Amino acid sequence: MTSLRRHPRRGWFITLEGPEGAGKTSQATRLRDSALEAGVDVVLTREPGGTVLGERIREILLPLHIPGVTAQPTRPIDARTDALLFNAARAQLVAEVVEPALSSGRLVIATRFADSTLAYQGHGEGLPLDELRALERFATSGRKPDLTILLDLPPEVGLGRKARREHNRFESSFDLEFHRRVRNGFLALAREEPARFAVIDATRSADEVFADVLAATGRLPDLELVPPVEKGRRGAVAHTPSEPEARKVRIQR
Ligand code: TYD
Repeated sequence: MTSLRRHPRRGWFITLEGPEGAGKTSQATRLRDSALEAGVDVVLTREPGGTVLGERIREILLPLHIPGVTAQPTRPIDARTDALLFNAARAQLVAEVVEPALSSGRLVIATRFADSTLAYQGHGEGLPLDELRALERFATSGRKPDLTILLDLPPEVGLGRKARREHNRFESSFDLEFHRRVRNGFLALAREEPARFAVIDATRSADEVFADVLAATGRLPDLELVPPVEKGRRGAVAHTPSEPEARKVRIQR
């Protein structure tokens, strides 16, 4: 009898997108912890960044400005330069991190990816979307996320979640109208590709949002994630009840 040699399954690529202050990083970290709990080999990365080169590009695109300590960047960065540099960091991330991880069957979770360029440089800064899409195809060699979780919230809410001194270049140099266009841009992208996007209301508590994030991953074949177990409570499900749930529990008692 000849034994068939089975190829390992290709991995999964999940991106988290959304306007400022949506909680992408903390939701991505929870997702990574759930994957570890489920025994899934996982890579958590971010854009711009995720590679040595990408992190250097990040320093150019999002210079740390500490009032009174570092000098204020003097020249604004042109929107086309933004688009090229974000895509340069992306090309390196895809080649160095995403593709190798997917080929070895791992789960890749990225906070921000190509949809951010379409939303910020396209819908926000006004660059033509078709040209940005061509640039994206070149940078990513056509790699698309299997699932994109859009953490949606009004920009006033998101921007209000961070102290002014923590605001990055996009948060401090662009007005509310820009951030409204970015949000609406993300929502338009989600409408164009409903099979890839899961739109989640990010104005709610982190626990409620995470329940939806986890549910969205159920769309991916052969991936079963469970809520991470709290430290010291192995065997129990980590979940802080939201206020209505807590009330329900109290009433039941
Ligand atoms: P962000 O990912 O929100 O990280 P941080 O937690 O450091 O704020 O910051 C990245 C910023 O760069 C954000 O304002 C969005 C912007 N951006 C673009 O304009 N285009 C892009 O393609 C990407 C990836 C990010």
